[in-house]
Amino acid sequence: MCGIIGYAGKTEAVNVLLDGLERLEYRGYDSAGVAVVSPEGKLQVKKSKGRLAVLRDLLQESDSLVGSIGIGHTRWATHGEPNDKNAHPHVGQDGKIAVVHNGIIENYLEIKNYLIRKGVTFQSDTDTEVIVQLMEYYYKKYSNLMDAVYAVLNRIKGAYAMGILCSDYPEQMLAARKDAPLLIGYGEKENFIASDVTALLSHTRTVTYMEDDEVALITADSVQIYDSDRSPVEKEKHIIAWDVSAAEKGGYAHFMLKEIMEQPEAVRKTVSPRITDGKIVFEELKEAVELLQNITRIYIVACGSAYHVGMVGKYTLEKLLHIPVEACLASEFRYSEPILGESALVIVISQSGETLDSMAALREAKKKGSKVLSIVNVMGSSIARESDYVLYTWAGPEIAVATTKAYTTQMVLLIMLGVYFAKQLSRISEEEYDKIMVGLDSLPEKIKDVLKNIDNYQKTASRYFNHSSVFYIGRNVDYALGLEGSLKLKEISYIHSESYAAGELKHGTISLIEPGTLVVALATYAPLLEKTLSNVVEVKSRGAEVILMATEETAKTISSQSSELFVIPETHPVLQPVLGVIPLQLFAYYVALNRGCDIDKPRNLAKSVTVE
Ligand code: G6P
Repeated sequence: MCGIIGYAGKTEAVNVLLDGLERLEYRGYDSAGVAVVSPEGKLQVKKSKGRLAVLRDLLQESDSLVGSIGIGHTRWATHGEPNDKNAHPHVGQDGKIAVVHNGIIENYLEIKNYLIRKGVTFQSDTDTEVIVQLMEYYYKKYSNLMDAVYAVLNRIKGAYAMGILCSDYPEQMLAARKDAPLLIGYGEKENFIASDVTALLSHTRTVTYMEDDEVALITADSVQIYDSDRSPVEKEKHIIAWDVSAAEKGGYAHFMLKEIMEQPEAVRKTVSPRITDGKIVFEELKEAVELLQNITRIYIVACGSAYHVGMVGKYTLEKLLHIPVEACLASEFRYSEPILGESALVIVISQSGETLDSMAALREAKKKGSKVLSIVNVMGSSIARESDYVLYTWAGPEIAVATTKAYTTQMVLLIMLGVYFAKQLSRISEEEYDKIMVGLDSLPEKIKDVLKNIDNYQKTASRYFNHSSVFYIGRNVDYALGLEGSLKLKEISYIHSESYAAGELKHGTISLIEPGTLVVALATYAPLLEKTLSNVVEVKSRGAEVILMATEETAKTISSQSSELFVIPETHPVLQPVLGVIPLQLFAYYVALNRGCDIDKPRNLAKSVTVE
């Protein structure tokens, strides 16, 4: 989704802004722009529809933007189509103030009509333009930028992270946030703002996260943050552990492939710090153990792939804990009436920690008296900060829009959590517990073994990349895996794909199976192997071509069922889905590669969805 970068320093701002925007490209965008104020107070803006390369060309064709203070933006259109005039930064009609904005201003129409009545002419179709026009309106009235900013913030409703420049204040950049991420980076005689830490890693790793309703005044030499009453606030600084190379491709053709290959290491980093003397120890949850005794149900709430992790969690945690577990889409959860309160535990899963629906679900759960435990990848993100307990996945920055290593580490952590809770509640035998610990220990190596078969997935993908429709079927955790495999395929290759609980296929969807339809049948869940195989026979007898995934053991007996086999190593059954997802990621990757798709930045998609 939209990205913001801002710079106040001593070097040419435009270079820093373009570098930052490049690092934000992965979030998904359709236009980009920059604004720079010269030391003499000249506000210069360049923006255009399309990729950053178009903006770079535009900057080369025209006079360079001079000045060491500036703001930049990548836009993912919500209000108004992606075109030059709707791109950010937006400038007020007096040409004094420029604003970049992430989020949505809900009452923009009312403000727009008010300003039109006052004689303001609007240039774009965006909600953002009302911010800057209203700011200039108040600036004219109060002759003070800070007064104007606070007046705007008091009047607008909705979500925003914004960067503000004013030609009358050529040494200052202002920033404000509410319900959209924004952080400040501290350098040597230079300071930054960004919507995402990856934009800053090449300059600084010392950051502060802005909280809702805060306003920051930033110059090259100082940062001052104010609360909603305009009182100065002292903020804690954080040092980000990620380094810049972690957010670069490192020789791989795509971030997605790099991130798939990083999974053994990401899983190792997530698992091993939490194992002491052969036992799972969550330092982060020491105080949560008491709470567990009173929990009668668990909701796992998330969006997209993180929701699919929740589906695996539903099957696994219910089995381990013997209490009802529901996996919920965050966008539905917040508008349904879940039975919350002290006896419900809500687990929120989010890579970015900024997904708006997941955040809203978290707030709803807390408001209704439930404790919230989150599984998050980005340190200091909003969901992490507002949760009662946080478990971080140590996957490192994930740049490809289609998640892989974050998904896998979320799943491992959720399974570990289930095992840990089961132990605390004495619902697992010593013997079983020890077997799972052995499985956890060897998991990174087994992931490496799956990755060794990369050529096989590549070959299979090159045989099937022209199919126009692909079905995934499976039962229990294989059904959950199918949902993820199907999502991976459709998001990056644009092939229509459906995922079904294998037993449900007969209730309608089997009518779509015809000669040549590709079915990916997942049969790694041993207790229901026979039943899944019956479904395979059903689709084959209707002419479907089948790719069958099984574990090494079962593959020996079922290899006659399909000429296309994805075979994964055996591990403890609760950990099996961690291995099962990897062939599905690679298959989707190579199908998309064969189709010439923009794998890391699929059309219309955003890495972090911060609007409803
Ligand atoms: C977007 C991404 C998905 C991700 C989902 C939830 O749709 O493209 O890959 O699973 O958001 O994001 P989160 O950051 O909350 O895990």
